[in-house]
Amino acid sequence: MGAFYLLAILGLLGQNVVNAQAGVTIDSVPVGHEGTPLEANDTLTVDSSRTPPYYPSPWQDGTGDWEAAIQQAREFVAKLTLVEKVNLTTGVGWEGDKCVGNTGSIPRLGFRALCMQDSPVGVRDADFSSVFPAGITIAATWDRSLFYQRGHGMGQEHYGKGVDVQLGPVVGPLGRAPAGGRNWEGFSPDPYLSGVAVGETVKGIQDAGVMACTKHYIGYEQEHFRSATQVQENGTTINVDIGSANMDDRTMHELYLWPFADAVRAGTASVMCSYNQVNNSVACQNSYTLNYLLKGELGFQGFVMSDWAGQHSGVSSALAGLDMTMPGDVGFDSGTSFWGANLTIAVLNGTIPQWHLDDMASRIVAGWYYVGRDKNAPDTNFDAWTTDTYGYQHIAANAGYTLINEHVDVRGEHGNQIRNQAAAGTVLLKNNGALPLTGKEKFITVFGNGAGDNTNGPNGCSDRGCDNGTLAMAWGSGSANFPYLVTPLTAIQNEVLSNNGAIENVLDNWATSNINALARRVVNSGGKSAAIVFVNADSGEDYIVVDGNAGDRNNLTLWQGGDQLINNVISQCNNTIVVMHTVGAVDVSGFYDNPNVTAIIWAGIPGEQSGNSIADVLYGRINPGGKLPFTIGEKRLDYGTDLLYLPNNGEGPPQEDFTEGVFIDYRSFDRQNITPIYEFGYGLSYTSFSYSNLQVKVHSTSTYNSNKGFTKPAPTLGTIANTSSAYVFPADFKQIPLFVYPYLNSTDLRAASQDPAYGRPASEFTPSNSLNGSSQAKLPAGGAPGGNPSLYDVIYTVTAHITNTGKVAGDEVIQLYINHGGPDDPKVVLRGFDRITIPAGASRTFTADLVRRDIMNWDTLRQDWAVSRYPKTVYVGASSRKLYLSAKLPTGDGETG
Ligand SMILES: *[C@@H]1O[C@H](CO)[C@@H](O)[C@H](O)[C@H]1NC(C)=O
Ligand SMILES: *[C@@H]1O[C@H](CO)[C@@H](O)[C@H](O)[C@H]1NC(C)=O
Ligand SMILES: *[C@@H]1O[C@H](CO)[C@@H](O)[C@H](O)[C@H]1NC(C)=O
Ligand SMILES: *[C@@H]1O[C@H](CO)[C@@H](O)[C@H](O)[C@H]1NC(C)=O
Ligand SMILES: *[C@@H]1O[C@H](CO)[C@@H](O)[C@H](O)[C@H]1NC(C)=O
Ligand SMILES: *[C@@H]1O[C@H](CO)[C@@H](O)[C@H](O)[C@H]1NC(C)=O
Ligand SMILES: *[C@@H]1O[C@H](CO)[C@@H](O)[C@H](O)[C@H]1NC(C)=O
Ligand SMILES: *[C@@H]1O[C@H](CO)[C@@H](O)[C@H](O)[C@H]1NC(C)=O
Ligand SMILES: *[C@@H]1O[C@H](CO)[C@@H](O)[C@H](O)[C@H]1NC(C)=O
Repeated sequence: MGAFYLLAILGLLGQNVVNAQAGVTIDSVPVGHEGTPLEANDTLTVDSSRTPPYYPSPWQDGTGDWEAAIQQAREFVAKLTLVEKVNLTTGVGWEGDKCVGNTGSIPRLGFRALCMQDSPVGVRDADFSSVFPAGITIAATWDRSLFYQRGHGMGQEHYGKGVDVQLGPVVGPLGRAPAGGRNWEGFSPDPYLSGVAVGETVKGIQDAGVMACTKHYIGYEQEHFRSATQVQENGTTINVDIGSANMDDRTMHELYLWPFADAVRAGTASVMCSYNQVNNSVACQNSYTLNYLLKGELGFQGFVMSDWAGQHSGVSSALAGLDMTMPGDVGFDSGTSFWGANLTIAVLNGTIPQWHLDDMASRIVAGWYYVGRDKNAPDTNFDAWTTDTYGYQHIAANAGYTLINEHVDVRGEHGNQIRNQAAAGTVLLKNNGALPLTGKEKFITVFGNGAGDNTNGPNGCSDRGCDNGTLAMAWGSGSANFPYLVTPLTAIQNEVLSNNGAIENVLDNWATSNINALARRVVNSGGKSAAIVFVNADSGEDYIVVDGNAGDRNNLTLWQGGDQLINNVISQCNNTIVVMHTVGAVDVSGFYDNPNVTAIIWAGIPGEQSGNSIADVLYGRINPGGKLPFTIGEKRLDYGTDLLYLPNNGEGPPQEDFTEGVFIDYRSFDRQNITPIYEFGYGLSYTSFSYSNLQVKVHSTSTYNSNKGFTKPAPTLGTIANTSSAYVFPADFKQIPLFVYPYLNSTDLRAASQDPAYGRPASEFTPSNSLNGSSQAKLPAGGAPGGNPSLYDVIYTVTAHITNTGKVAGDEVIQLYINHGGPDDPKVVLRGFDRITIPAGASRTFTADLVRRDIMNWDTLRQDWAVSRYPKTVYVGASSRKLYLSAKLPTGDGETG
């Protein structure tokens, strides 16, 4: 969910834009299965003409395990009137009802308004709910069972509050550049790790009976230019259009689309389209990304929801594949909508065929059945807009005074799980024997405002839009209210007191003389005394600016004078432990190799149990097993790609050219031959591990089958009256002001639309083939949710022996990488991992299945996946650069050569 801006997009409203690019034919040449060479020119071409229009919007085909849900949904939708169908698709307007977004309802059939609620870390805007670790921290656990556990916990809490759709998880942004403001909401710039994490999270949420909304689709890699803005240029103010993420087809498939495929395969009931443009077409009306890629190729059976005010047209967005508009109004509280009455009108005047509205409605209801909300679903018992117990249900209109907050405690036992999840996602970066602490230290000192309370309370800044006290959550709509926040100082103090030790702290980062004096006393005290310094770096969503950072970070250095704080402490103290709570990579070059820094920990964005989680690691109750889900390089330039901060296209869409292609994060460091400080996948333990005995087993399996044939024609669900008089406001209807309704206020369609541009020739915004509900050719890479099912056939099983060679039990994250062999392929890409607990002295077997997709490349010309002819190598090791074992992937049966 997004903007609080009353849109600066006024220049776009009402345009019904179709970005009809030069038509490019998509060939469906059969794939050669054996050794198809990829053409050199398939890569690194940024060319917006590769986003060809694609119509009609694919209708549900019931593949995967969606068949029963779709059947039920179609039966339900067939019973609906036109306005009831429209009610499912359209939000009632900003602050129109209790949740951050609500649809209309169908009172006649007892179907209540659907409630959409942020966020990817818990129930936003609620009380008595948990704050889970952020995506980037759970990713650092590399633990499938914890991905699922966190998702399930969040799903249970949304369920308990009466939420139908949790607006999460996030795999867009993926994390193209480390300064991206919302990277922390997602998992990792590696698509494979993100894909596994999103799949398990979706399953966890949906097994709890709540629809997941995987977001933001797609190319939403920065906050700058996510909406149209006013910018100062040469002293004058210019209106700059929404930025465009421009990427080539291979980059789309092998990088940004990859985790969305996993989310769809896991059954995500909804996908949120993003604010940005993709190849110069707005993401919420981009027929290529929505119709072709998501609903066609990935076989997505659920519904596409707009980000808040991410819709910029009525008919065009519907035909391009959008199914639900949020929050429903054109501008926040405008009382008007691109859909609502306009959608009713568009069906009546024939610009949107009934079968398409039926499909939109059926996708929404199918998701509802798919997660079992027909069986049981509590009513919404909280209100997103106030913590008062009584208040207005329709706050935009100050209407409907009633009991709005029941303050239901939905946390269950999640606090302990959260403590463990964040500890498991804590990464030990350096340790010269300083850790673990034993509890027998004579004197413990704690430094930095990053260790203590926000002076205004844990929820003292709206949507966490400040950096004050310990950083346990970053800012924006991806936040939630803390039920409590255990600070590191509190937890460490509890620990020290339980051991009858001594502890002091200085939390003011600028109190230099106090800092220096206390740090000096650590050394003087002897007895393994230690200084622990807490520093942070924050970021968030662009509707809040913190310390001059408009969502995206302006730099990669620590905040609040963190470097100076560290330097002050280490100038006096030779046993300094640095703990970093950051939203991603930070510049550690100023201190990481200083001998007085005896340990460094990346503690991520841990959530409500922050202090307990870090104390568990510091004191060795939990042996750190987390690994970096991103690279920490020496310089910002080393990442090889960056955000666009200044407009580069006059008033037109700023052009964010992803010219680096698939080479982000470690793939970029590898390509440039730059040694990072801490590489992707890196992390230490209190024990050590050795690797041996790599084995590769080849499975015999059928060859890759490109999807063939034709779809069934689009079904039409029930009959609807096509006279406007059937859809005017019912005579006795009491309208809530500013509320978006599906009804017409006139039997004259032009008058009812209130659109001065009404009646423009349909050809202007109903692209060729968009109204065609007849049987369509299937896409070669499609066939089931997640894409062609034979992409997921197991081709190889790789095993290795891992031995704990140290003195304590520990977790190791064993990582499998592949080199695809071609000149345009990254040196290695992650294609497998497992986190295994191994007792001291014991060995365990690491096992990873490689599926066909893992060894394929995207073939742009054929629009399908293919195994290139280049020899491939598999590596198993402890990070993207600790590739201890390797083997050539043997030529298997048929195609794997
Ligand atoms: C549409 O939804 C609104 C808001 O829930 C409700 O008042 C209205 O009765 C619904 N209309 C129909 C036709 O169900
Ligand atoms: C600002 O100056 C640059 C360089 O002279 C020019 O290219 C650009 O068009 C100017 N922008 C405006 C809004 O005048
Ligand atoms: C219909 O959409 C247009 C923009 O395309 C908008 O100006 C108008 O207010 C909408 N009508 C209603 C009734 O919401
Ligand atoms: C049909 O209705 C839509 C929604 O109000 C409007 O934008 C469009 O101009 C209308 N088209 C025709 C051909 O009347
Ligand atoms: C935290 O907020 C308080 C009150 O606004 C302010 O005095 C203090 O300087 C802030 N601290 C930091 C580290 O920003
Ligand atoms: C980087 O940004 C942070 C947060 O705004 C700020 O505290 C810090 O001083 C900046 N670093 C540099 C080197 O400007
Ligand atoms: C390290 O700490 C000691 C005090 O323990 C101090 O004398 C020395 O100058 C420090 N070294 C550095 C490189 O800061
Ligand atoms: C720090 O310096 C003191 C005094 O020189 C010495 O006893 C102690 O071993 C040093 N500690 C570390 C961790 O190097
Ligand atoms: C790649 O280049 C070859 C030779 O110039 C050309 O025939 C082919 O069409 C190109 N392929 C694509 C996808 O542009």
